[in-house]
Amino acid sequence: MPLTITFLGHSGFLFDDGQPGGRVCVDPFLTGNAKAKHQPGDIACDVIAFTHGHGDHLNDDGIAIAKANDATCVANYEIANLLKQKHGLADDKVEPGNPGGSIATAFGRVAFTPALHSSSGPDGRYLGVACGFVLHFERVDVAVYHAGDTALFSDMKLIGQLGEPDVALLPAGGRYNMTPKLAARAAEMVGAKFAVPIHWGTFPHLGQDVDEFSPDGVEVKIMQPGQTWEVAG
Ligand code: NI
Ligand code: MN
Repeated sequence: MPLTITFLGHSGFLFDDGQPGGRVCVDPFLTGNAKAKHQPGDIACDVIAFTHGHGDHLNDDGIAIAKANDATCVANYEIANLLKQKHGLADDKVEPGNPGGSIATAFGRVAFTPALHSSSGPDGRYLGVACGFVLHFERVDVAVYHAGDTALFSDMKLIGQLGEPDVALLPAGGRYNMTPKLAARAAEMVGAKFAVPIHWGTFPHLGQDVDEFSPDGVEVKIMQPGQTWEVAG
């Protein structure tokens, strides 16, 4: 059975391994995103993961989706506390972690990776370190690296070696993240078979194309918001 990957726009994704507990949402940013094709009410998931605290990753959509689905929330320790203390999510629905650690799930495992980026709430509240994830969909033998928001760093090679991702989702919009050229270097270092540029074209001050995202030896998949893709294990 393949893994179904739906691009929600910006850095948002929905994954589904087709088995109970296997629907995972990451960083939904729908309301206020003119490029998004989904509404929060469209999203059905068992797990929802947040890479960091910035509003284009953690926002009211994510909270609403978590509550509507009674989903398990995966995030760094500070965001996990925020979800419980400010948003009233139940203790047993929040799974905190931090880079280097991982959390066992019904579908396999979520590993936290470092990301070179900041993380705070709209009020300036410190929300831990920015993270990425390697989502190990063990039941279908597909692993996905979602880099979150990040600069290029050489340990991406290690993430590739240890996580063995099949797909790398890499920010390529510049300004807050890698440019397409640097994201291509990241894709080469991670060494996944497929790479998808994300976090571009959403706002005027982000890059509007990824023409220069052309890593050597990696298959580039350009996804449009709302688009679904199936990856075989
Ligand atoms: Ni950010
Ligand atoms: Mn961002």
